Amino acid sequence: MALVNLKLCLSLFLILIGIASAQLSSTFYSSTCPNVLSIIKTAVNSAVSSEARMGASLLRLHFHDCFVNGCDASVLLDDNSTFTGEKTAGPNSNSLRGFNVIDTIKSNLETSCPGVVSCADILAVAARDSVVALNGPSWTVPLGRRDSTTASLSAANSNLPGPGLNLSALITAFSNKGFTAKELVALSGSHTIGQARCTVFRSHIYNDANINAQFATSLKANCPSSGGDNNLAPLDTTSPTAFDNAYYKNLQGQKGLLHSDQELFNGGSTDAQVNTYSTNSATFFTDFGNAMVKMGNLSPLTGTSGQIRTNCRKAN
Ligand code: HEM
Ligand SMILES: *[C@@H]1O[C@H](CO)[C@@H](O)[C@H](O)[C@H]1NC(C)=O
Ligand SMILES: *[C@@H]1O[C@H](CO)[C@@H](O)[C@H](O)[C@H]1NC(C)=O
Repeated sequence: MALVNLKLCLSLFLILIGIASAQLSSTFYSSTCPNVLSIIKTAVNSAVSSEARMGASLLRLHFHDCFVNGCDASVLLDDNSTFTGEKTAGPNSNSLRGFNVIDTIKSNLETSCPGVVSCADILAVAARDSVVALNGPSWTVPLGRRDSTTASLSAANSNLPGPGLNLSALITAFSNKGFTAKELVALSGSHTIGQARCTVFRSHIYNDANINAQFATSLKANCPSSGGDNNLAPLDTTSPTAFDNAYYKNLQGQKGLLHSDQELFNGGSTDAQVNTYSTNSATFFTDFGNAMVKMGNLSPLTGTSGQIRTNCRKAN
């Protein structure tokens, strides 16, 4: 009996240690790289002031990192003759941007604190600073992620939701990562900034019924039924470079750019949440920040797992 208890105690202890070592902390670099946050913020502010859309692109990079086997900077690894990463996955190819900004941040950090700050943490902080730079909410970013040496093209293709998904498929995709439908609606508010290519919204503007007719017509000029695949339109037609709650008001007016956006307000179970966020931007901001922290906690590598890459594009 005593032996059984001892074993139970020991395994509980080991589990607690496991949890403790997997725990991220906002003060992780306070002695090893005290200026990490100001170095990242300076670079993000400068990139966003040169091009507002860069804030959106950096936010999306963190999402596409975290939803594919966790926040481990796998999304940043370049392909080479013997390695295939995630950059050629359908949702990423000809679409993800901001890699050069991450390279600049990494190189500034390697000068100040060589070998200390992970690329996965850079993505998490840059996402927050991007939202702040576009006048959105702020939140405290837990740190201490480490970088992968691998990536998964197949996981990128299967885990990242596509613009053609219906509401139930969106709910499933987010639930597979531990998110509620409410968090799906909050995180989708990211589409209050940034741009999308004609190829991802063409079917919605030509084939769907649940779209404002004038809005659809206005988009067709730059997104013909064939050709113009890479032509861009703002995800939030009202205020494309402001992080605000206009995205939800657009959905109420059937002015969601993507089919998947409009699915969140199409007579289904998430309509009420869209209504809440459209009338209460403070609630949206709070829920968004909390959901971003939760997203940033998706299976990080910690302790002695993974590495701190010297170059975010390549394993050491
Ligand atoms: C709910 C499911 C989601 C779907 C189906 C989806 C799909 C897409 C698509 C198709 C684009 C346009 C890409 C292109 O044309 O190149 C896009 C852009 C974007 N997405 Fe999402 N997304 C989703 C959720 C999210 C989440 C959770 C975030 C962030 C937390 C996010 C952030 C962004 C941003 C900021 C852009 C604009 C990027 C830029 O301008 O460079 N999305 N998304
Ligand atoms: C949603 O999409 C899935 C997968 O394509 C499909 O099986 C399902 O029937 C669709 N649900 C609705 C309500 O249309
Ligand atoms: C190819 O990329 C992988 C992942 O970054 C890296 O481990 C490997 O060293 C690279 N190979 C070459 C030849 O650069």
